[in-house]
Amino acid sequence: MQARFVLLPGDGIGPEITAQARRVLDAVGTQFGHQFEMSEHLIGGCAIDSCGDPLPQETIAACKESTAVLLGAVGGPKWDDPRAKTRPEAGLLRIRRELGLFANLRPTKTWDELIDASPLKKEIVQGTDILFVRELTGGIYFGDSGRREHASGEEAWNIMNYSTGEIERVVRLAAEAARGRRGRLTMVDKANVLEASRLWREVSGRVMQEEFPDVEYNVVLVDAMAMHLISRPRDFDVVVTENLFGDILTDEASMLPGSLGLLPSASIGSGGPGLFEPIHGSAPDIAGRGIANPLATILAAAMMLRYSADLTAEAEAVETAVAKVLKAGHRTADIGGGDSSVGTEAMGSLVLESLTA
Ligand code: NAD
Ligand code: IPM
Ligand code: MN
Repeated sequence: MQARFVLLPGDGIGPEITAQARRVLDAVGTQFGHQFEMSEHLIGGCAIDSCGDPLPQETIAACKESTAVLLGAVGGPKWDDPRAKTRPEAGLLRIRRELGLFANLRPTKTWDELIDASPLKKEIVQGTDILFVRELTGGIYFGDSGRREHASGEEAWNIMNYSTGEIERVVRLAAEAARGRRGRLTMVDKANVLEASRLWREVSGRVMQEEFPDVEYNVVLVDAMAMHLISRPRDFDVVVTENLFGDILTDEASMLPGSLGLLPSASIGSGGPGLFEPIHGSAPDIAGRGIANPLATILAAAMMLRYSADLTAEAEAVETAVAKVLKAGHRTADIGGGDSSVGTEAMGSLVLESLTA
C-alpha cells in the first residue's frame, strides 16, 4: 500500500526519538512491501524560532493531506516565559483541534519482561491492562481564559465547558473499545464539585444505559481514581475521562509499566488523519544526550500503522520486536538499564534487528 506519514519531531528529545521511529517505519515498509512517503515539518518551539508560530500553515496543510501524523514532543525552558506571546504547547493543542481529534487513546499495559522497572510492587501491577480514553479537544484546555486587574494585583481564569455532543461521542468511542476488550468502562469525573462533571455523569450514564447495556459501567471520582490506580490497577479495563483529568491520570499510570518512555498514544476522532505520539514531553533534562527511551514513539508508530493504515500485522510485528528486545534484557536508563543502559539510537537499532530477524 501507499501511505503518506507526516513526522513532527518538535523540540527537546522529540527529534531523537522520532528519528528512531522513522527507521522502524522505513524497515516495515521494506519488509512488507509498502511505500511509505515521509516528510518532516515544524511544530512547537522550533517553529516559533523559525517563523514565530508554533503551528505554521504549511504544517497544518501537510497534516491534513497525510495518512497520519507522528509527533515527537514540544516545549522546553527556552519558550517557558509566562508572559510570552505564544507557546509551543499552543501548536499541539491547535493541531489536535484542526484535525478533530477528540479522543486520545492511551493504552497502559505492564510488560512481564519489565515488571521490576515499576516503582510499585509486582503483586499490585502485574497483569495491568488499561485503555485510557482521554477527551482531547474540549474542557478547560479550550475554554475561555484571561486575566484582569484585581485589588490584590491580577486575577486569571480558565473555564471548563463541555457540551452534550462532546461527551456523547467520546463515551461512545470508549464504550465500543470496551466491547472489544473485557467489556468494562469506568467514567472518571468530579461530579461532587464541578457542574461540567455533572453533565458528564448524566450524559455518559444515559448513553451507557441506552446504547451499551452489555458493557459493565461504573463511575469514580477523580481524586479516588488517583489512588485506585496505584492500589488496584488490574480492576480497570477502559477508563474514559475529560481532558485535564486524563492528562494527569495517564502520567501517573505510566508508573505502572515503569516509565513515561514506554507509553504511546493515538489521537483519533474525525475519521481523517490521526495523530500518534508518546504521552511524555520533550524531556529537557535529558535532551541532546542520546539517552531518551524511543520505545513510546516506536510503539506510537505501531499504533499509527494499526489505526490509520489498517496494517495490523505490521503493527504487531513492531510490538513483538519491542517485546523481544525487552525480553533479551536491553534497557534504556529510564527503565533500569543502570551501567549497561543502551542509548536512544542503540535501542532503535535493537528494535530494527529484532524486526528483521
Ligand atoms: P516530560 O514528559 O518531558 O518529562 C518528565 C520526566 O520524564 C523527565 O524527567 C524526563 O527526562 C522523563 N522522560 C520523559 N520522556 C522520556 C523518555 N522518552 N525517555 C526517558 N525519560 C523520559 O515532562 P516535563 O519535564 O514536565 O515537560 C517538559 C516539556 O515538555 C514542557 O515544555 C511540556 O509542556 C512539554 N510536554 C510536551 C508534551 C507533548 O509534546 N505531547 C507532553 C508533555 C509535556
Ligand atoms: C500531553 C501533554 C500536552 C497536554 C501539553 C504539552 C499541551 O502534556 O500530550 O499529555 O497537556 O495535552
Ligand atoms: Mn501530559
